[in-house]
Amino acid sequence: MSEQNNRPVSDPVARRRTFAIISHPDAGKTTLTEKFLLFGGAIQLAGEVKAKRNRVSTRSDWMGIEKDRGISVVTSVMTFEYGDCVFNLLDTPGHEDFSEDTYRTLTAVDSAIMVIDAAKGIEDRTRKLFEVCRMRDIPIITFINKLDRESQNPFELLDEIEKTLALDTSPVTWPIGQGKSFAGTYSLQDKKVRHFNEGEADVVVSGPEDALFDKLLPASDVATWREETELAAEALQPFDYKAFLEGHLTPVYFGSALKNFGVRDLMDAIAALAPPPRDQEADSRMISAREKNMSGFVFKIQANMDPNHRDRIAFMRVCSGKLSRGMKVKLVRTGKQMSLSAPQFFFAQDRALADEAYAGDVVGIPNHGTLRIGDTLTEGEEILFRGVPSFAPEILRRIKLQDAMKAKKLREALQQMAEEGVVQVFIPQDGSAAIVGVVGALQLDVLAERMRIEYSLPIAFEPVRFTVCRWVTCSESAELDKFMAAHRSSLSSDLDGAPVFMATSPFSLQYEAERFPKIEFSDVKDYQ
Ligand code: G4P
Repeated sequence: MSEQNNRPVSDPVARRRTFAIISHPDAGKTTLTEKFLLFGGAIQLAGEVKAKRNRVSTRSDWMGIEKDRGISVVTSVMTFEYGDCVFNLLDTPGHEDFSEDTYRTLTAVDSAIMVIDAAKGIEDRTRKLFEVCRMRDIPIITFINKLDRESQNPFELLDEIEKTLALDTSPVTWPIGQGKSFAGTYSLQDKKVRHFNEGEADVVVSGPEDALFDKLLPASDVATWREETELAAEALQPFDYKAFLEGHLTPVYFGSALKNFGVRDLMDAIAALAPPPRDQEADSRMISAREKNMSGFVFKIQANMDPNHRDRIAFMRVCSGKLSRGMKVKLVRTGKQMSLSAPQFFFAQDRALADEAYAGDVVGIPNHGTLRIGDTLTEGEEILFRGVPSFAPEILRRIKLQDAMKAKKLREALQQMAEEGVVQVFIPQDGSAAIVGVVGALQLDVLAERMRIEYSLPIAFEPVRFTVCRWVTCSESAELDKFMAAHRSSLSSDLDGAPVFMATSPFSLQYEAERFPKIEFSDVKDYQ
């Protein structure tokens, strides 16, 4: 690769790579993450972190539900050094019921690794997550995994990426065989063979015609392989750095996460190609990562990371400036000051106090309900970061409380769950019991479990007559008042008091939209 990011070690912003892995379940995200951490090794951010280990797992495995079902319910962040870069890998839950969480996490990354199973190609969830990345023009590096198993032809795989995702591909490495005959990769530009067999060193060859390939591949396959590889080297897109940064082209690497093959190439690609922290859009202006003053936004709240201690951590992406432990910041939503006395970095198994953090870093801020998803923290400036979205839930249920005496406690608990983004809570304007909304059914199980464990509040869910909900706004307040007066029994308020219209079917929603053309019915809402 000729294009490299310029990253003098003394420049903390240029060193940062903040990214996530997007993939369909089973494609190998967990395996790849483990290999990343293996190569990344222990974090030694000299002068930036004072390690104070307290043996806490970032993998929140405290919850029975997660253990029972073998799914990762919550996201977390892993920070590690690789070469002269600092990698912040944001983990996303694999299960699609937690897709809201994943979407929010993707608002905090600068690039993404797309992992594809070489036998299965592009799968449903990869496509959906890719679409989210595309909305934000996030550059994507592709890793085609499991080459040690029977795989599709590499041309077919690239073709599928191009056609299904409308994303140009530029293979950097090319597989030498696949499945049982997988012998390694050949890098198309610098003509280097990397042997699958660990004992053998990389060699530079003359090209696909080199005699080495007669030894590496079965006699029946070698002629076709040469032909295809010549074609790949000549016909495929050259790597265009600008197109990559704009999210139109992806460099492609082949390998096997399980066999630890091709992972280093991928990590080198992240260091060399993935962009450093991007500028972030706030309501009034763009915030440059290199601005002096610290700013950041909360994209995730995670409770109970430590099974011995019920804590609540807000994950904040630093967008600009330098965060110093102990500094005073302003929580823009409330206008109040707060002190960042114990910001933390998270590693594979440990956390440590973060004495300093820079744009691109993700720090955990312990708090007791002060911070919410979408919150902006600054050194005083009145700005709000945009883009941590809330989606209109697809499943609505009324909460049934078994002990009616605990209604007040329930309200407080629901408020907290809504602030953490576990579920959305809607308070009907007709005074009836709270309605919760989720995108995936498993979120309801998580809510019930947490209510039981943390608040000793056993709850049940009842169906409601509504199936669709939309935030309603209107530039003419009189028109909004008219609409609201006519729909009291179908209106609720969300966490911020914003009006939400609930409809019994998509048809009735459409009917109301036609009757009230000035009202906007929105299925996405920015936090704040
Ligand atoms: P996910 O997080 O994307 O859901 O995938 P994960 O890494 O858990 O991998 C899913 C399965 O695929 C695992 O096998 C894992 O060992 C296997 N796998 C991952 N990468 C490769 C690879 O490069 N080659 C091969 N052959 N297999 C790979 P499993 O049997 O479901 O789980 P386990 O019992 O091995 O943990």
